[in-house]
Amino acid sequence: MIGLAIEAATEHVEILVRGAQGETLAAEVEEVGHGHTRRLTPLVALALARARVRPAELGWVAADLGPGSFTGVRVGLATAEALALASGAAVLGASSLAALALASGASGALVVPLVPAGRRDVYAGFFRADRRGTVSLLAAPRVGTTAEILAAVAEALPLLGRAAVRFVGPGAAREQALLEAAHPGSTTPGVRFGGLSADDLAHAARSGLGPRAGLPGTAEGMRPMYVRPAQAEERVRHRVTAADPVTLRPMAPTDLPAIAQVEREVFSDPWPESFFLGEITRPHVHAFVAESGGALAGYSVAWLAAGTGHLGNLAVLPGHRRRGIARRLLTHLMADATAQGCEGIALEVRVSNFAAQGLYRAHGFRLAGLRRGYYRDTGEDALVMAWHATSGSGLGDAVPDSTET
Ligand SMILES: CC(C)(COP(=O)(O)OP(=O)(O)OC[C@H]1O[C@@H](n2cnc3c(N)ncnc32)[C@H](O)[C@@H]1OP(=O)(O)O)[C@@H](O)C(=O)NCCC(=O)NCCS
Repeated sequence: MIGLAIEAATEHVEILVRGAQGETLAAEVEEVGHGHTRRLTPLVALALARARVRPAELGWVAADLGPGSFTGVRVGLATAEALALASGAAVLGASSLAALALASGASGALVVPLVPAGRRDVYAGFFRADRRGTVSLLAAPRVGTTAEILAAVAEALPLLGRAAVRFVGPGAAREQALLEAAHPGSTTPGVRFGGLSADDLAHAARSGLGPRAGLPGTAEGMRPMYVRPAQAEERVRHRVTAADPVTLRPMAPTDLPAIAQVEREVFSDPWPESFFLGEITRPHVHAFVAESGGALAGYSVAWLAAGTGHLGNLAVLPGHRRRGIARRLLTHLMADATAQGCEGIALEVRVSNFAAQGLYRAHGFRLAGLRRGYYRDTGEDALVMAWHATSGSGLGDAVPDSTET
C-alpha cells in the first residue's frame, strides 16, 4: 500500500510518500518555524506531486500525535484526517516519543526520548529496551526542565536493575551537556539522538505494536498527546469544577449494579458485582462513592490493615473526569489511612494509564516497582506506585474535604 507520513511535531517538518514496497517515492523537508498552518498543506501537495501519487491511491496516512509543538501536532493530525477522509485511506499515528524510542536501536537500557517543549522545558518519554532491543513502554510521559527530567530518570532507573540510560531525540541534542554531565555516555553515537523523522514515524505507526510499545491500540482512534494541557482549557475546567459540588459517602450494596456497569465500561478486566459485595462489608475496607448532582460520579475501594494500605480500585465516570473527583476520593483515602496509622498506600497501575499515573504522582505517589506482564487480559506491565504517609507530600494540596459519612 502506498502511504504518506506527516512529521510535524517540531519546527522541522518532514513529509514522506512511501511506495508499496517500502521505498521512498518523495520526501519534503522544511524548517517551518511557527508556520505549520501555512506550510503543511503545500508541502503535502508538493510531495504527492513529486511522487506522482494521487490522493485516492493512498492506503494510509500517518501523523505524529505529539507531544511537541501544539500547533504542529494539531495541524498535522487534522491534515492527515482530512486527507484520509477524502481519499479513503486509514489514519495511523504514533507519539513522537514512541517513534524515537522504537528507532533508538538501544538494548538493555532505560530509553528516554526528549522533545523540546518551549521555554527551557522538554517532553520526556520513559521506555525500556530489553537485551534483544525490544522496546516497551515503562511510564507516562513528563514535561519539565532538564533537572526535573533527570530526577524522574533517577526515580525510574532502579525499576530496571542495572540498566543504563539512553537519551534520544531533538531534546537530547539540545540538552546534551547537562545530560552527559549527569550520565556520561548517555547520548553517545551508536544510539541515535538526532531529530524526529517521517521515516521513524511511518515505521512506528505501521508497526502494529500497540499500547505495550506506547502506541495507540487499534480501537481507540488517533488522539493528540499534549502532556501539558493548554492554558485556555485549564481556565474552562477550573470554572466547571467550581460549579460542580461533589459529596462522598460509604459505598452501599444498592450502589453495586450501577458500579458494576461502570466497571464494564471503564476497565478491560472489570471487578464483578459479587466481588464488590464481598469486600464492602469487611472490616478493613475503605469503599466510598462520589456523587455529583445526586448521581454516581466515581468510587474507590482500598484495604487499610496491618499498618499499610493498598488501593484496589478507583474510577470516575467518563462524563465527570478532570473535575477533581478522583482527587477527592484519593485525598479522603489518604486522610483515612493516616488517621488509622498506616505507613502509606501502594497500588498497581498499567504502564499505559497516563491519567491515573498523573493523578497518583500529583498526590505524592512515586514509582516503587515494575511487575512485568501483570495484567492477564493484555499482558501489559504494571507499575507499582507508593505514597508514604510520613513524607507529608500529597495531602498538602488536598481540596478541603466536605465528606458526608
Ligand atoms: C484516572 C481517573 C480516576 C482520574 O479521575 P479524574 O476525576 O478525572 O481526576 P481528577 O480530575 O481528580 O484529577 C486530579 C489530578 O490528577 C491528574 N490527572 C487526572 N487526569 C489526568 C489525565 N488525563 N492526564 C494527566 N493527568 C491527569 C492531574 O494532576 C489532575 O489535576 P489537574 O486537573 O489540576 O491537572 C479517571 O481518568 C478514570 O476513571 N480512568 C479510568 C479508570 C482508571 O484508570 N482508574 C485507575 C486505575 S489504577
